[in-house]
Formats: sequence, C-alpha cells, structure tokens
Amino acid sequence: MLRTHNCGELRIEDINKEVTLCGWVQKVRDKGGMIWIDLRDRYGVTQLVFDESKTSQEILATVRKLGREYVIQSSGIVVERYAKNDKIPTGSIEIDVKNIDILNASKVPPFTIEDETDGGDELRMKYRYLDIRRNPVRKGLELRHRMLQHTRNYLDGQNFMEIETPFLIKSTPEGARDFIVPSRVNQGEFYALPQSPQTFKQLLMVSGIDRYFQIVKCFRDEDLRADRQPEFTQIDCEMSFITRDDILQTFEGLIKYLFKQALNYSLDKVERMSYDHAMQYYGNDKPDIRFDMLFVEMNDVAQGKGFKVFDDAELVVGINVEDCADYSRKQLDALTDFVRKPQIGAKGLVYVKYNEDGSFKSSVDKFFNQEDLKVWAEKMNAKPGDLLLLLSGEQNHTRNALSELRLKMGSNLGLRSKHEFKALWILDFPLLEWDEDSQRFHAMHHPFTSPTPEDMEKLTTDPGAVKANAYDLVINGVEIGGGSIRIHDKTLQQKMFDALGFTADEAKKQFGFLMDAFEFGAPPHGGIAFGFDRLCAMFGGSESIRDYIAFPKNNSGKDVMIDSPSTVSIDQLKELGISLND
Ligand code: AMO
Repeated sequence: MLRTHNCGELRIEDINKEVTLCGWVQKVRDKGGMIWIDLRDRYGVTQLVFDESKTSQEILATVRKLGREYVIQSSGIVVERYAKNDKIPTGSIEIDVKNIDILNASKVPPFTIEDETDGGDELRMKYRYLDIRRNPVRKGLELRHRMLQHTRNYLDGQNFMEIETPFLIKSTPEGARDFIVPSRVNQGEFYALPQSPQTFKQLLMVSGIDRYFQIVKCFRDEDLRADRQPEFTQIDCEMSFITRDDILQTFEGLIKYLFKQALNYSLDKVERMSYDHAMQYYGNDKPDIRFDMLFVEMNDVAQGKGFKVFDDAELVVGINVEDCADYSRKQLDALTDFVRKPQIGAKGLVYVKYNEDGSFKSSVDKFFNQEDLKVWAEKMNAKPGDLLLLLSGEQNHTRNALSELRLKMGSNLGLRSKHEFKALWILDFPLLEWDEDSQRFHAMHHPFTSPTPEDMEKLTTDPGAVKANAYDLVINGVEIGGGSIRIHDKTLQQKMFDALGFTADEAKKQFGFLMDAFEFGAPPHGGIAFGFDRLCAMFGGSESIRDYIAFPKNNSGKDVMIDSPSTVSIDQLKELGISLND
C-alpha cells in the first residue's frame, strides 16, 4: 500500500510514529518560514508541516509546485500541534514531513471542495466526481451504504432471499410511462425497463420462494421533483402465506431496525390510519403527524349567511392555528399569497382572529357577526389567542390546498423538526380511481392488488366503492413505501381486469404469463416496496433524494456530466431498424 494510515485516524497517542499518508491537497499556507498543507482523503484531513530552515531545497521545490487537489504521498513523524484545532478529530497532531512526492497534478477545480462550496448546482453536477470529494455529499453516500448493509442484514436474518430480476422486460403496470429499449435482433420490437419488479416477484411466489427481496433500480419516465428520479432504487419485497398484518409487522421491524442501526433512534409505535380518515382530517393521503392542526369541516355553520364564496362551495374547511391571533396584516397577506400560488390554486383565504379579550376579528366580518364566529371557534376547538384559517371550493382541490397551508403553518411554527420521526400506515385505500378523461377506472395501486375481504363481492356490483387490501408507509409526510395483498386467483384477477375495462384479449396480451402462472398453484401472497432514496434522504435530513444518489439526473432528467440523453449515430439507429423519417 502507498500509505500506512489514512488522513482521519492519527491522534495524540500516535506521536513519534513514522507514517506515510496519501491524499488531495486541500490548502497550502505559506507563512514565510513555515508551510502547512491540509491533506484530505475520504476519512478526514491531516495537517502536514514544513519548517523551511530544516527542510531540504528539493522538498521545498516540490511543495512550491503544489496546487489545490494535487494528489500527493507524504511521509514523516507524527508530532503534537502547537496550536490545536478542536474542530477536527486529527486536530491535536500534525506530520513533520520528511518526504513528499507528487502522485498526480490537478487542474484548478471549478469550485471549492469545502463543506460550503461556491459551486452552483449545475456546475457541481457536471463535475460530480469532484462534488463527491466534499464531506456532505460523501457522507450522504456513506449513509446510503450503511443503510444498504443494514437492510440486507435484517432481511437475510428474516429468511428473505435476494434474487435479481431482469431489466430488459416488457411494460410493468405501475402507471408511469416506460423507458423503452429497441431490440436489434428482433427489429421493430422493444423491451421496457421495469418500473418495478412487480410481476417477477409475484412469479417467484408461484415458484415457492416464499420470502423474496431485492434492492433494485426501477425506471419511470415521469415528471421530476425533489423526491423523484427517473431511475431510483427500491427495497422490493414479497412474502407468501401471510396476512396483511404479518406484512405490516415484518416491515415495521425493518424500519425500526434501520432507525436504530443507522440513526440510533427509537421509532415509536407505527400508527395506522384509514385513507378516508387521512383525507378528511389532513387533506392528504400522506399526512405529517408530527403535529395536529386537524381539518374541521365547516359547511353546516359557515353556509347560508349570504357569503357567496362559502355558499357556492362544495366544502368549507378550516384549521385552528394555535396562539397566532397576533398575526399581522402583512403575515396574513403572505399566507393569502401562498394559497393563491398556481401550484396551490385557492382563490382566497378567510381568517378569524380569536382575540385574547374574547372578541373576533375576521376577513368576513361583513357576513358573520360575533355570535357566528363564536360558533366557528367552538367547532374548531379554538381558545382566545388562536387563529382560524378557512378555505372553500371543490372538495378535493380545497383539501389539497388546505393541506399545503397546514404544512406551511407547521413549518412556520417549528412543528416539523427533522430530528423527530413519526411513521404511520395508511390503510383501506380505494381499489379503483375514476378517470374522467378515459371514462374508466384505473387501479389506484396496481391491477394485482386484492380488494379487502369484505369488499370482494362489490367488485362486480359497485367497483368504485371497493377498498383495496393495500398499505402505504408514510414518515413525516413522505410516502416511503407501498404495497398490497395480491390477487392470487385467476377468476378474481379476471374480474379486476373487467373492472379496469381490459378486454380478455388485452389482459392476456399484457399479463397472460402471470394469469397462466396463477393456474399452477399460486400461494396467497403480498408485498411492499420502499423508496430507498427517499428513506436515505429522510434519514439524512434532506428533502432532495439527489443528495443520496452518486450520479443523479438534474431537473430535466439529464446527466450533465456524461451528457445523457444524447443523440446516437444514424448507423446505430439503422442497425436497430429505426428510421427517424417515419
Ligand atoms: P410504488 O409505485 O408505490 O409501488 O413504489 C414504491 C415506492 O417507491 C418510491 N418511488 C420513487 N422514489 C423515487 N423516485 C421515483 N420516481 C419514485 N417512484 C416511487 C416511493 C414509493 O412509495 N410494485 C409496487 C410495490 C408493491 O406493490 O409491492 C410499487 O412499485 O417511496
């Protein structure tokens, strides 16, 4: 090895040891007479020191050639530092250098390789290999690495078998667009990259692999957001001979284990909440339950008083923001601007201040007297000093908008600490969603999800009312995972395809292989997949999953470092039988 130690491990106990270190030059400080170099590697920074009066001209000539990010090897004796630096673990020692070699020169990096860098997003992505030299990025990848090991460890301990499934497949039914890959050998035909290994893991259950997992790349051609990448990683799992509760328990176990191992955090009991409850009280199927501020539906007390906006609304709904009656005009205007933003789309915001003296001041005083507002306050469980915020309009739209406002108020009031974690299962989702455009039902999860046992019969009589035997794991308002008990019976699967408006032919063409397999003794089974990048980002305290992916895509789905996607040669296309002129 070219080194005896790394740049993060030497301590005061190592004094007088003769060592050789390798790394990158972070900084050179030449104070006339003394020269210091901060030498960095993956493990830390160690200071090298040169006393000009005691150092050979040859070594000094080498030192004078050094620039930022040069790669060097340096040997010397560990000595105690005169001026200690308690900010770094190696801060009590330095290396009195006896020899130094340049292993490689470096161009001046396009941004500073420090925790706080002057490089913008795009530049850092173009030179991502340099960005990864920075502590915060490297630490994100270290966390990801540890989480991968813990996940494998836990699942292996529970008898899960890790099995790889193919990437060149045909369309999977997760509801996003597929990335497709043309076949050269079978011209005019295409593979699709998997949106998930869903059908394969179900086939593995038919094969008798009763506990499967895979930490696997999935590909979805969908619009990007902070928590979405076109290629991302799932912890994908499936089990046979289990009930829903077995799955919830097994994977609560995994999540708690990860929190304990990776963060030394003891996660509380994982709550359970129905989809309907979540929508009614949080306006959202992934509620952040670190704080309450529950929705109160106000139609019965807010309508019929001549305020047309409320009278015409399908839903009038509000939240009680405690102790905020002293909000200024400016603060309330800012909230109104917030709900009016196009992404949120509310027309306006109604507020009621419940003053400390028991009186009310509202934005709708013209329509509602003090008595009316008192009734509101009682319904919303408000006390003097509280602020009521109400929105109205079409039901789903209004719930969405109030949900955003609730989260904003939670953040403003410091109720969403990134060091506190609250997890819950959302249960009893609708099985099907009506799509106005295509005038047919879509599977809310995917078409292999079983109805709840109670709702089996309704699949043919009242499909819109059927609940799914599905579950999502939500932590701090982020959908971390989702899964379901599957249909393992061919007749039921056929009914599901009927409800989804598939003809028998279409179903056979797309999923015939699975339906066939179900005729050969498919066991009852179910599973779940976790968004691994999201889990890492949550553990690391970041909203963006990009920070936990070594080489992510930017907001337009591009890798600017390798310049992908990019054009290919006409010859390459010809070989694939693709003509651009068609
Ligand atoms: P689902 O589509 O809910 O389920 O995906 C599971 C989890 O994957 C994460 N996720 C994403 N993460 C980053 N970027 C994306 N584009 C992205 N899309 C999804 C989310 C989500 O909860 N086959 C089923 C699972 C099953 O039924 O077992 C599936 O893929 O955290």
